[in-house]
Amino acid sequence: HLLCPMNTSPHVNPHKSGHGIWEEFSHSFTPAVREVVEFAKQIPGFSDLSQHDQVSLLKAGTFEVLVIRFASLFDVKDRTVTFLGGTKYSVETLRAMGAGDFLTSMMDFSENLMRLGLSEEEMSLFTTVVLISADRSGIENVNSVEALQETLIRHLKGLITKNHTNESAIFTKLLLRLPELRSLNNMHSEQLLAFKVHH
Ligand code: HEM
Repeated sequence: HLLCPMNTSPHVNPHKSGHGIWEEFSHSFTPAVREVVEFAKQIPGFSDLSQHDQVSLLKAGTFEVLVIRFASLFDVKDRTVTFLGGTKYSVETLRAMGAGDFLTSMMDFSENLMRLGLSEEEMSLFTTVVLISADRSGIENVNSVEALQETLIRHLKGLITKNHTNESAIFTKLLLRLPELRSLNNMHSEQLLAFKVHH
């Protein structure tokens, strides 16, 4: 099994080698990764960063951007996960296939994010704040990344305050999602590494 929802389904072809399995999986997730790159290029100021810092931000943040983009794949009410192929699997089925606590953490995060009821514009601006983070490892010009992130955070705060007059807590709640995304990112890297070690 390959239990990442970025795969078309959790099932892998038993006749395929480790390399073949990875190749099929990468066909499934590559379009989504390309979309993140295109999204980044449209963030005002992103293209003005050094090539090196653009790459570092994308390497570190793509997973987190995808988690926001695909939060709706996790349905806490139904207790199901929809894979990119479009089929829903119950959490129980995935657990029986070997999924662990990380799946539960992903479900919880997605529910909390969706519960905020943000508009598409708000989600998109939040996503830019996630991607443009000066504290990612290997950033050359921390000051420019920081300056850009501050501008984006100011815009996000303005937009949220304008749209949700009685719920000033939403902005704070969103910022609290940032360390959670980091933690999911770290847990997921371990999943990925373990998979690579075994295949
Ligand atoms: C697990 C790769 C993005 C959610 C995994 C595994 C790999 C992987 C190799 C281990 C599979 C296994 O052991 O069966 C990738 C790659 C990604 C990506 C290359 C880049 C596009 C995502 C995203 C999400 C996600 C965006 C969430 C929206 C999960 C979950 C698991 C998983 C829930 C299963 C954990 C468990 O077994 O409990 N991923 N993933 N992945 N991934 Fe991803």
